[in-house]
Amino acid sequence: MTQTLDNLQNEVSACAWTLESDAVKALLDLTHAHTTHETDIQRHAQRLVENLRDDAGGGIEAFLHEYGLNTSEGIALMCLAEALLRIPDAHTADKLIKDKFEHAHWEQHIGKSDHWFVNASSWGLMLTGKMVNITQSPANFISKMFTKVGEPTIREAMRQGMKLMGSRFVLGETIHDALSNGKSSIKKGYRYSFDMLGEAARSDAQALAFMESYRHAIAAIAKTVDHSAPFFARPNISIKLSALHARYELTQKQRVMNELLPRLKELVLLAKDSGISVSLDAEEAARLDIEMALFRALATDPCWTGYDGLGFVVQAYQKAAPALLDWLAALARETGLRFPVRLVKGAYWDAEIKRAQVEGLRAYPVYTHKEHTDLSYLACATTLLRNPKCFYPQFATHNARTIADIMALAAAHKIDATGYEFQRLHGMGDALHDAIVGEIPSRIYAPVGEHKDLLAYLIRRLLENGANTSFVHLLMDANVTTQTLSQSPIAAVQSLAYEDDMPLPTDIYTHPSSPRMQGELEGGTTTIPHPN
Ligand code: FAD
Ligand code: 2OP
Repeated sequence: MTQTLDNLQNEVSACAWTLESDAVKALLDLTHAHTTHETDIQRHAQRLVENLRDDAGGGIEAFLHEYGLNTSEGIALMCLAEALLRIPDAHTADKLIKDKFEHAHWEQHIGKSDHWFVNASSWGLMLTGKMVNITQSPANFISKMFTKVGEPTIREAMRQGMKLMGSRFVLGETIHDALSNGKSSIKKGYRYSFDMLGEAARSDAQALAFMESYRHAIAAIAKTVDHSAPFFARPNISIKLSALHARYELTQKQRVMNELLPRLKELVLLAKDSGISVSLDAEEAARLDIEMALFRALATDPCWTGYDGLGFVVQAYQKAAPALLDWLAALARETGLRFPVRLVKGAYWDAEIKRAQVEGLRAYPVYTHKEHTDLSYLACATTLLRNPKCFYPQFATHNARTIADIMALAAAHKIDATGYEFQRLHGMGDALHDAIVGEIPSRIYAPVGEHKDLLAYLIRRLLENGANTSFVHLLMDANVTTQTLSQSPIAAVQSLAYEDDMPLPTDIYTHPSSPRMQGELEGGTTTIPHPN
């Protein structure tokens, strides 16, 4: 059996290098049977989309749609969100604001949205831009006045704006606030997974502080647990392993096993004693091997007998996802445990592409077409639902078509509402999950913490909301039809043209679309071809 686990682990590692077209062929084979239910699924997805569109609020979704990442203003705002609150001195903060506002055309966005909130914001941003630019000519009296009165005001307003945007995605600054703020959603039928903000610890002191915040959170959650409730109906805690050790990487395997594993085991034991499960968030693909080594060492410890709370997260955008599920199923059989597995599409796509290009890897570890990721999600969902003894499936998505697909798949596998759940992020997918939570349980992933620890998480949410391939972004676009949003992932892959495929990381400078090949590098441009 150990031999099988070793072989399966090697297969997972090898998958990153397979040709994308080969991986997709295998996915089409895995999902073949699903096409039988297409008419019903499409109808269900369309109903969900229509309800969402009728219900569409004018809040942050509309704002992020207007300022999408295909506009220079959207990018300017994301840079501000990422950097402003980390800048300690006023002078540098003002320079950043000026830099980001100087070349942006906020006036082009006025009146473009159907939502007053978005248009009001556009006015505010345009006026700010004008004030920032006026300060460029100090000889002028009015400019001088703006410099004196304007800059601190603008700086503070910008900081508050960024905090406001961030607060949308956080349930509370402390676990006690979060537990209290979550009560109204629990009344609607939701469950919670609490995530103590913090990741990529830079020092051991920081890792120990994150460790303490997890201990504290588990103790607080423990007091609220209803032990008469079914195990998976209880709250859960999500842990980012990169928060628990500053060198959570494969090259430091021995240290990770000696230092991080005992920390993780301590937290999971606390969770077990409190009667709740944990989920290990999935992070960068390069950390998958070390995560598997850790999880195997953890799961094979005999102390977990009878505890089904060791949760793993699988990212469907990784070419390795189906093989990873085979490995997890083998580990579940070997240990006799049932793992809760959260299936996500993956939140680090841009970073994965960039890293592969910077390091000149021979392939991308992730798919380069969104349609392939959607298909992989379907294939992985099929594996999860086929193995109820090994897995408790947790489907994390804000996409209505994906939800309709999963509900049809579960029915086809005769898995009822006690056998799986959906998940959404706090501040996203509210209306979609409100519509299904009465039928199938749904869990809210709820970040807890202060703004200083939110930034990396916030950027991933802005990317998710702002990307022009993202379901939540397309939903706000009146030009995208309900039919398009409800299209089958299988049909979408079958109709892909593959005309402008992204070059492999090793080919980016020799590919015909590369700036170098088009003679654009003379001016120092290093724009890398991007598929979207
Ligand atoms: P969709 O719009 O259908 O899908 C968007 C996704 O498609 C992108 O996020 C990306 O994964 C993929 N994609 C976009 N463009 C391309 C492309 N060109 N090629 C290939 N793929 C592409 N993410 C993690 O990484 N780790 C976690 O632990 C994690 N935990 C989560 C927990 C919960 C409860 C939820 C709801 C999400 C979590 N996420 C996590 C984030 C998750 O990965 C994103 O929310 C998800 O990808 C969005 O998918 P969707 O089905 O809602 O939207
Ligand atoms: C993230 O941190 C939700 O784990 C996911 O982006």
